[in-house]
Amino acid sequence: MSKAPIAILGAGNMASALALNLARLKRPVRLYCIEEDVEEDFRKHQQNSRYLAGYSFPKHVTTSSSIAATLHGAEDIFIAIPSFAVEDVILEAKPFFTKKIQSIVSVTKGLHHETLQPIVLSEAAILPVYLRKHLCTLGGPAIANELAKNSPTGFLLAGSNKATVQRVKKLLETATTKCATSSDVLGVGLASALKNPYAIALGMCDGLKLPANAKSLVLTLAVEEIQHFVVASGGDGRTAFGLAGLGDLVVTGLSPSGRNRTYGELLVGASSKKPADLELGTVEGIPATSLAVKLARRLKIQTLLLDAVDHCLRKTHHFEQPFVHYLTHLQLS
Ligand SMILES: NC(=O)c1ccc[n+]([C@@H]2O[C@H](COP(=O)([O-])OP(=O)(O)OC[C@H]3O[C@@H](n4cnc5c(N)ncnc54)[C@H](O)[C@@H]3O)[C@@H](O)[C@H]2O)c1
Repeated sequence: MSKAPIAILGAGNMASALALNLARLKRPVRLYCIEEDVEEDFRKHQQNSRYLAGYSFPKHVTTSSSIAATLHGAEDIFIAIPSFAVEDVILEAKPFFTKKIQSIVSVTKGLHHETLQPIVLSEAAILPVYLRKHLCTLGGPAIANELAKNSPTGFLLAGSNKATVQRVKKLLETATTKCATSSDVLGVGLASALKNPYAIALGMCDGLKLPANAKSLVLTLAVEEIQHFVVASGGDGRTAFGLAGLGDLVVTGLSPSGRNRTYGELLVGASSKKPADLELGTVEGIPATSLAVKLARRLKIQTLLLDAVDHCLRKTHHFEQPFVHYLTHLQLS
């Protein structure tokens, strides 16, 4: 196996968890980092207290604020930047890409704000043509903090080039981290982006104190709507029921600490407040919901559950309970 550096664009929660995993390969692992305090923490203490506290990184994991230095000589690149910034970072990186690169792994989950495509497809569109076949997307239920603890985790890695997918699978797999593979890049990208709005719906069930029957109903309807999106977009409908769809939705929508789930819970809970007053920081599911609604209209698919979430996010009066209305008027065929 190669001894060339591995570059990770981003030095946040997921980037750091991946760095811990990849460090075991004894290859230099370089994180591209824009925050001075994070870089200083790494340089002085080999730690990242801001994004992944409690871990010591081996000396061959380093950070740099220079994207050129991060990418120099790298054969494998991971992109772990939030969806709103990822295009800018790739455009900044583009002059330093070379034909030495053997894989580019997109970890970002989201829809592009204009094209409504999953982020991995907008990344593909701006990569140099010679690199496109090396692009993969990493989906599945993988919370960074659990990955860092070596808790058993299953990814779903999708790419069009089998050799690249197998290479990345080998990079990531350990005794506790497993990687299923797929060629359905579109489906994995879409399912990964759509889980957040549906996690808000599952949080609303918690806020309304609805027990297991109701949550199971909402979870199943969510997976069916994700499947409609994937099929109408030209992907493989089975992806919705696998690790990147159902798997990621379970982890995002049922895990107590999940931000999107918590947001849904607080939004309709006893202390029901206006969304802006919840002070939960960035909740990716909020912009993702309106983008997903637009995409559903474009694809001409019916997404009643998503529409109910959208309605709840837009409600202006505390007494309105559009989610209860949705559940009580549900017509199953
Ligand atoms: N955290 C997880 O458990 C997890 C798991 C799987 C996938 N993801 C996905 O990974 C992506 C990143 O999530 P995260 O939780 O690591 O986020 P994070 O907020 O912890 O970290 C984001 C990183 O991106 C960097 N960044 C932001 N804008 C930048 C810019 N313009 N230039 C350079 N760097 C910039 C930040 O400095 C930070 O290092 C998201 O799309 C998320 O959905 C996260």
